[in-house]
Amino acid sequence: GQLNIAAHIVGKKYFGTATNEFQFTDTRYRAELNNTLDFGILTPANSMKWDSTEAVQGQFTFDAAEEVVHQAQRHGQMMRGHNCVWHSQLPDWVSDGGFDKATLLQIVDTHCSTVVGHFRNQIWDVVNEPFNEDGTFRESVFYNTTGTDYIESALRAARRADPKAKLYINDYNIEGTGAKSDGMYNLVKSLKKKGVPIDGIGVQGHLIVGSVPTTIEANLRKFATLGVEIALTELDIRMDLPVTQDKLEQQKKDYQNVIAACRNVPACIGVTIWDWTDKYSWVPGVFAGQGSPLPWDENYQKKPAYAGIMEGF
Ligand code: XIL
Repeated sequence: GQLNIAAHIVGKKYFGTATNEFQFTDTRYRAELNNTLDFGILTPANSMKWDSTEAVQGQFTFDAAEEVVHQAQRHGQMMRGHNCVWHSQLPDWVSDGGFDKATLLQIVDTHCSTVVGHFRNQIWDVVNEPFNEDGTFRESVFYNTTGTDYIESALRAARRADPKAKLYINDYNIEGTGAKSDGMYNLVKSLKKKGVPIDGIGVQGHLIVGSVPTTIEANLRKFATLGVEIALTELDIRMDLPVTQDKLEQQKKDYQNVIAACRNVPACIGVTIWDWTDKYSWVPGVFAGQGSPLPWDENYQKKPAYAGIMEGF
């Protein structure tokens, strides 16, 4: 079996992976990345972010991201854009610019309409990680200066730039039910009521082996009542190192359970893993003592997690 095929068989639009263009020189990596039986969509893990696309105000650079786009196009893969507005990987000229509200909203509008209009991806994470863990809004430069108006400006700009693109708000720790998921639910509800364009909720899915929430399916069903689509956008399930056979077996079950939650909720349209081989995972660099979160190990061998995904579909 193969992951993207398995997703399609149960009515999903894709199974896919994040990637970085600087990994394309690794021919063994590229061969599997291009395997559309496993991956029907690519997300650039870094190269569409603000610091890559508008490091200097008004000077847009798309070369790195276009390498990912061309890679996808050559193989008939879809693209997920990631992302327009985020507090991280944000150039200083935005975060430290001291702009007033009207100016910052205009900056958000220009950035989102330019980037979304340039790439014309099928799907966009327009706003990334707007919430705190307790469901209140994160105190980014955007929120501190504009309240939640930046969210509206970003979404409206994205819709204007590419009316066909599906527009998402994306966050982590909103897999299961809880305060942060309630925050997302309430935000999307209020945006819809106001007529702000919003098509989907992106559930990142950066999870931990043995600690995967049991309420994922219930939470996705609740999101679905808003009339939006849902995607698992950045799935990886990390473990404390060293790797053991027991942890790999638990990881398999964890992947299976997460995938089954998406499978069982029709509004969940697809799943993206945050790269596919442990060789290029972001986890070891960010979470001390943890790693091995992906379905292939660093030597490109399939782990039990791969079969777990297949069984989940
Ligand atoms: C990560 C990338 O994978 C890393 O290479 C980079 O150093 C930091 O960002 N949530 C997101 C992603 O929305 O953009 C992050 O990607 C992982 C967490």
